[in-house]
Amino acid sequence: IVLLRTETTEALHARLVQTLPFSFGSLRLASSFKAADLTIERNPACKPKPDPSTLLFGKQFSDHMLTISWSEKGGWEAPEIKPFQNLSLHPATSALHYSIELFEGMKAFRGFDNHIRLFRPMLNMERMHRSAERSCLPLFDKNELLECIKKLVEVDQEWVPYSQTASLYIRPTFIGTEPSLGVARPGKAMIFVIVGPVGPYFATGSFNPVSLLADPSFVRAWKGGVGAYKMGGNYGPTIAVQNEAQKRGCQQVLWLYEEEEQITEVGTMNLFIYWTNTKGERELVTPPLDGIILPGVTRQSLLDLSRSWGEFKVTECTVNMKELLDALDAGRVLEMFGAGTACVVCPVGSLLYKGKTYQIPTMQNGPDLAKRFYTELTDIQVSLLHV
Ligand SMILES: *Cc1c(COP(=O)(O)O)cnc(C)c1O
Ligand SMILES: *[C@@H]1O[C@H](CO)[C@@H](O)[C@H](O)[C@H]1NC(C)=O
Repeated sequence: IVLLRTETTEALHARLVQTLPFSFGSLRLASSFKAADLTIERNPACKPKPDPSTLLFGKQFSDHMLTISWSEKGGWEAPEIKPFQNLSLHPATSALHYSIELFEGMKAFRGFDNHIRLFRPMLNMERMHRSAERSCLPLFDKNELLECIKKLVEVDQEWVPYSQTASLYIRPTFIGTEPSLGVARPGKAMIFVIVGPVGPYFATGSFNPVSLLADPSFVRAWKGGVGAYKMGGNYGPTIAVQNEAQKRGCQQVLWLYEEEEQITEVGTMNLFIYWTNTKGERELVTPPLDGIILPGVTRQSLLDLSRSWGEFKVTECTVNMKELLDALDAGRVLEMFGAGTACVVCPVGSLLYKGKTYQIPTMQNGPDLAKRFYTELTDIQVSLLHV
């Protein structure tokens, strides 16, 4: 398994921790599990692999899973790869009561050369580690976890679709398993990783734009909160808002923040606007990592790619609804799109704001930039490009 672009993101981390009021550093980073202690119990009854063209997101899982248990008394146990199976949990389990839960989302790709690759996986490990610190869950060595995940992908390698548009979705999860009801740091915890094949987000050759509901009465994340961490508690409450968007004829939610209606994210994706700014310059803008934005790996990759091209200005700054509507009115908006692991980029076609629908000319403009990002990133992932 080849690792692509594994450089660390110290700069990104530095920017992010600056916004925290104080450090949540654990007092107990004494030890970690080790990939060298991993035990493997092979599944004697492997399932037939599905046809890559029929895959639905998150519905099918492979034959194995990785579990790593921790307790205050015994520390980390040896990691185990075993047949995919149900968990057995005490009804007082803290993850179920107080949402002491976090997750990651990453993918393994089968390249045109038949090598299997993970895309910038250390960025996911670093983000997971930050979420663990903020959740009072025990810390671990990021390299050791990545080694265990690589082993799981290797054991389930036949589950990585033989396709350059489908991939294997990897879902690392970390839960508090304390079997008691006090609202306290859990004395037991478990990391588990499940994987399953997923199809392309868009049918080949077509890029479908989404319509968004922009209603400032709904808020996803706030300053001082935990929006910058991939904690389960951030996502459950968004489903009712997503349903409301659908009731009003929109596909996803554009999350606004504060009186000035800052544009933050779209659904569970980071947001990018490509426009001509008020100074007449071509510019790609995305909101800064100020504590309310989830630091996406795709977001970072689009920033890195476009900065490496050096063809237009690339800016991390806040944009509010008024600035966007003014730019739309003046015909300065070229493209608007979401960015995340699931779709890479997802064009935005319209906004419903205060009862009025605004058309966004993303598709009319190609979308040249969104397509270029999509092609470059997916080419890197299936190794058509050398990096
Ligand atoms: C996961 C996520 C993203 C995208 O992150 P990637 O690492 O690019 O997949 C963006 N916003 C939110 C709210 C997310 O949960
Ligand atoms: C696992 O859980 C699911 C859902 O609760 C259940 O349908 C299934 O029978 C369980 N499997 C086993 C082997 O117990």
